[in-house]
Amino acid sequence: MGDILIVDKINSYYGKSHILFDVSFTVLEGQTFCLMGRNGAGKTITFKTIVMDIVPKNGKVFFNGKDITGMKPYKIARLGLGLVPEDRRIFGPLTVKENLILGAIMGKGRKGIWNLDLVYKFFPILKEFQSRPAGTLSGGEQQMLTIARTLMGNPLLLLLDEPTEGLSPVIVKTLKDLLLKLKEVGTTILLSEQNIKFAMAVSDHVAIIDKGYIRYEAEIETFKKDEDIKKQYLAV
Ligand SMILES: Nc1ncnc2c1ncn2[C@@H]1O[C@H](COP(=O)(O)OP(=O)(O)OP(=O)(O)O)[C@@H](O)[C@H]1O
Ligand SMILES: [Mg+2]
Repeated sequence: MGDILIVDKINSYYGKSHILFDVSFTVLEGQTFCLMGRNGAGKTITFKTIVMDIVPKNGKVFFNGKDITGMKPYKIARLGLGLVPEDRRIFGPLTVKENLILGAIMGKGRKGIWNLDLVYKFFPILKEFQSRPAGTLSGGEQQMLTIARTLMGNPLLLLLDEPTEGLSPVIVKTLKDLLLKLKEVGTTILLSEQNIKFAMAVSDHVAIIDKGYIRYEAEIETFKKDEDIKKQYLAV
């Protein structure tokens, strides 16, 4: 398995506040990598830096062998980095199907397994609701739609920023099954989470971020046994 994403000692700021300190990690092809951390630990700013919504003051990001540091976000999206942001931006007045087609348009030029048929197979609820305005879907359904729409662009790497946040247990379970199925078809995923149980069920590898520093990194089986680490950095 090759490296698909290398985050190399990034330092990022919100205005004048220094938030990320030499953050480094590597995601391998086919892996589900979870960046774990409490509220305010620095998960979202890490994702924003990876897609260059925030340009790091120093450090570099390599995607699929290419230095993408400082590139325009839309160009990075075209290279195959598909971000599902924390705030789930769907196009409310457009139908579910139109949202999905837009996802394909945004990923134009890149081939892959994803098209409407496969998305409807993975997300039966979206097929059922394909003609509804996306804004009428529930929060959980909208989360599914943003993931499906991003997949329609056939990303090489799917970024999910706290996908379970605010979702009911039933939807979290659906999301878990979905991520496991995505893994089966070879999707490479970087997600952020504070839900330990969810992260342990879907991930191969975890890193923990705390106050802008990476404090820990391990294969999932090691992390599962590491109760002290969970208490120290993830307990509420
Ligand atoms: N505009 C801002 N100016 C200064 N600091 C900010 C700003 N926005 C966020 N922060 C701080 O940056 C830190 C990292 O925020 P970030 O959104 O990356 O955290 P997170 O891990 O995604 O948390 P959450 O679980 O709440 O989504 C937090 O401590 C937050 O208080
Ligand atoms: Mg966040």
